[in-house]
Amino acid sequence: MVKQNNLSVIILAAGKGTRMKSSYPKALHQILGKPMLYYILGSAYLLEPKNVFVVVGYKKDLVKAYLEKDFPRAIAVDQDRQLGTAHAVAAVSGHRKKLAGQVLVLSSDCPLIDGKTLANLAQKQDKTQSSATILSTEFPDPAGYGRIVKDRDGNLLKVVEEADAAPDQKLIKQVNTSIYCFHRDRLFDGLKDIGSSNTQNEYYLTDIVEQLAAAGKKVSTLHLADYAQVLGVNDRIQLAEAEKSMQKKINEKLMVQGVTIRDPQNTYIQDTVIVGQDTIIHPGCLISGKTAIGPDCRIGPFSQIADSTIGDRTAVNASVVLGASIGKENTIGPYSYIRPYTHTGIGVKIGGFCEVKKSTIDHKSKVPHLSYVGDTHIGKGVNVGASCVTVNYDGFSKHKTIIEDGVFIGSDTMLVAPVRIGKDALVAAGSVITEDVPDGCLAIARGVQKNIQQGALRYREKKRKDQS
Ligand code: UD1
Ligand code: CA
Repeated sequence: MVKQNNLSVIILAAGKGTRMKSSYPKALHQILGKPMLYYILGSAYLLEPKNVFVVVGYKKDLVKAYLEKDFPRAIAVDQDRQLGTAHAVAAVSGHRKKLAGQVLVLSSDCPLIDGKTLANLAQKQDKTQSSATILSTEFPDPAGYGRIVKDRDGNLLKVVEEADAAPDQKLIKQVNTSIYCFHRDRLFDGLKDIGSSNTQNEYYLTDIVEQLAAAGKKVSTLHLADYAQVLGVNDRIQLAEAEKSMQKKINEKLMVQGVTIRDPQNTYIQDTVIVGQDTIIHPGCLISGKTAIGPDCRIGPFSQIADSTIGDRTAVNASVVLGASIGKENTIGPYSYIRPYTHTGIGVKIGGFCEVKKSTIDHKSKVPHLSYVGDTHIGKGVNVGASCVTVNYDGFSKHKTIIEDGVFIGSDTMLVAPVRIGKDALVAAGSVITEDVPDGCLAIARGVQKNIQQGALRYREKKRKDQS
């Protein structure tokens, strides 16, 4: 998008969001696992503005902590008492000199807005030399929104809030989206004259429209047909609607790029995720963070993948993969848990009910059934039998297990770390290995079996006698 050096952004995020019935500020309520603020800031930064101010109030420390984490360049401004949207913008007046000539005002509870729409709005304000340009839309049900009141010739007169609207004004379908682009000085000069004599005793930013229009200043609207972009989120029902909208947008973008999503309504993918062509995503998946999935993969059903890379042609079935890098042509699951700092090579199999943590598993190695692998290096072509455990924790510290290329580990084996199993070695099933196994050795570490002749018969006879 074009660089908007002449543009500053103010995002209003101080409100409590009473109707959310929550102990968290509204701006931090999540859509697809990210706060609403993430989306609005993301769209604002697409315009490359000179600076971005976020007005914070209710539980401001939580909002500031989030900003520091994801948007450290945004400047938080305190509004200690939430006396209305005009009062919120006025909180930024101390920074007036730092602001560019054009000021975009947005609300954090309008998270679906597109960067392109914001650019169009700024462009219209600039082109028409308006003191203010309001983004308006028409909802099938406009209840709750401020209505755009015009004269007979279609000139904008004012915005009237639902609470203050006369019955005939409530019939107006064109509403204020609470997204505006202002001429900086018209905005800050105008704010000084806004009062709070209305039904809600609040300082309404919308009052500036009537004030500017009455003073003969130019006020224009940009009408948006796609009202889904400007749905306000005031309660949990609208939050769920906004999530559905965002989900649709992200999934459709991936489908256009050549990804099959079998049940888009039941697939939750964050906008940070990259997915390759011809990958099929089965129902019930959550994919998030810095995740990149290669082409021709099979993901799901019912998998959760976060902050991971998944190589080409890999299948992840009903499993959880977090902070891992999985190689090409792997099969994972069903029902496995791959934890951070796990790296796998090409053609690795991690089968059912396995947990792998902070380990590398090299090309063509298999951990097919019911095993725990932690703090371990597994070389190439290794086979780990069913129910093996790398015993990595002694109650105080973690220790490493090294399994060299070509090793075969029999089922139900404990490898008590630190321990090294040498190249091509074989560990017999049921062993508890506490010492290193040199290359090529067969290690057996289990009780010697005794078969007692007639023992079963004698045992049962004794039991029966004891009971009678
Ligand atoms: C506002 C508009 C309304 C518009 C609607 C669109 C006003 C008076 N009304 O109404 O015309 O149709 O948005 O969604 O502006 N906030 C603060 N400090 C405050 C008050 C609010 O930061 O003192 C923030 C809120 O956190 C929120 C935003 O401003 O992000 C809008 O406030 P809200 O109370 O939701 O306004 P609406 O009643 O929805
Ligand atoms: Ca609102």
